[in-house]
Amino acid sequence: MFLYICAIVLVALILNQDIHAAEIPSSEKPKVLKLAHNLHQTHPVHLAFIAMRDKLNTLSEGRLKMKVYPAGQMGSSTEILQMLQIGALDMAKGSASDLETFESSFSLFNLPFLFEDEQHFDAVLNGEVGRTVMQKTRALGFFCMTSYVAGYRSFYAKKPIHTPADLKGMKVRVQVSPMNLEMVRLMGGSATSMSFGEVYTALQQGVVDVAENNESSWVETRHIEVTPYFSETRHLSLPDFLTVSTQSWNRLSPQEQIWLQEAADYSARLQRENWHKSTDEAREKALASGGKMITVDREAFRQSVTPLYEQFRSKDDQRELLEQTLLLKRA
Ligand code: GCU
Repeated sequence: MFLYICAIVLVALILNQDIHAAEIPSSEKPKVLKLAHNLHQTHPVHLAFIAMRDKLNTLSEGRLKMKVYPAGQMGSSTEILQMLQIGALDMAKGSASDLETFESSFSLFNLPFLFEDEQHFDAVLNGEVGRTVMQKTRALGFFCMTSYVAGYRSFYAKKPIHTPADLKGMKVRVQVSPMNLEMVRLMGGSATSMSFGEVYTALQQGVVDVAENNESSWVETRHIEVTPYFSETRHLSLPDFLTVSTQSWNRLSPQEQIWLQEAADYSARLQRENWHKSTDEAREKALASGGKMITVDREAFRQSVTPLYEQFRSKDDQRELLEQTLLLKRA
């Protein structure tokens, strides 16, 4: 009985403390969350993070803030994801390719020509498949809060590429992803993985002949200066993800977690709304500065990578994800 009363008194004391804590006016210093990524400050994904930072500030009335470190200042995509794992960084952008080496289900998004159109992309990312994959890294120390559209990736080089045969003998930079390496091999090129920050110099010095990315990255990171021919294969539609360290997330109060998620969702909505405009602007800038848009034999590229689908289906859990994804295509 005595122990029982002691326990009740203890619980009451703890609850009381919590009540007092909640009543304390928030004159304490604001919490600041650090977010790092590898894109340029004019890139639409960076602008989405800036919108998120401002939204969070408004929602929390200045109590929860964000500081954004762009352009690889904190390290490569892989390095910043590793920093999340040990709690040395709060948030990072990871593309599906970066995440594939941490959790293999992200390789789903690395299947070339997977999405039929943008509605299909959104249905997958915002639906059951997207939600399942986004939570899969939790045990590794981080998880995805939301996703951003990254358009379509096409090849760019010093000369036009029309068919897979044109890639023969060419060194192609891909992200650090086994799927991407295999994709280029099947298309006939010779692939090298490299972090984004190294691509400009590698193209300039001929370490690689070809890179592949969306229009915004090609233009905003000035790759266009050294590789002006943009061959519109549109072979991958690879989302970017906002990832958060589980340690940082757990340090937030339930209210702070709600603010952060709301600000993240807001930034994703805004970025999707603005994506076309930023792609159109990048294309205009490209044409104005001597870039050339090249029409390709897309069907030949599509055919060349069909074995990737067979390889992907060979694992049961992956096959299931792929079937669910294909079912979401519009009839
Ligand atoms: C795109 C993508 C980035 C990625 C980059 C790359 O720009 O949005 O997340 O890091 O490609 O090729 O590395």
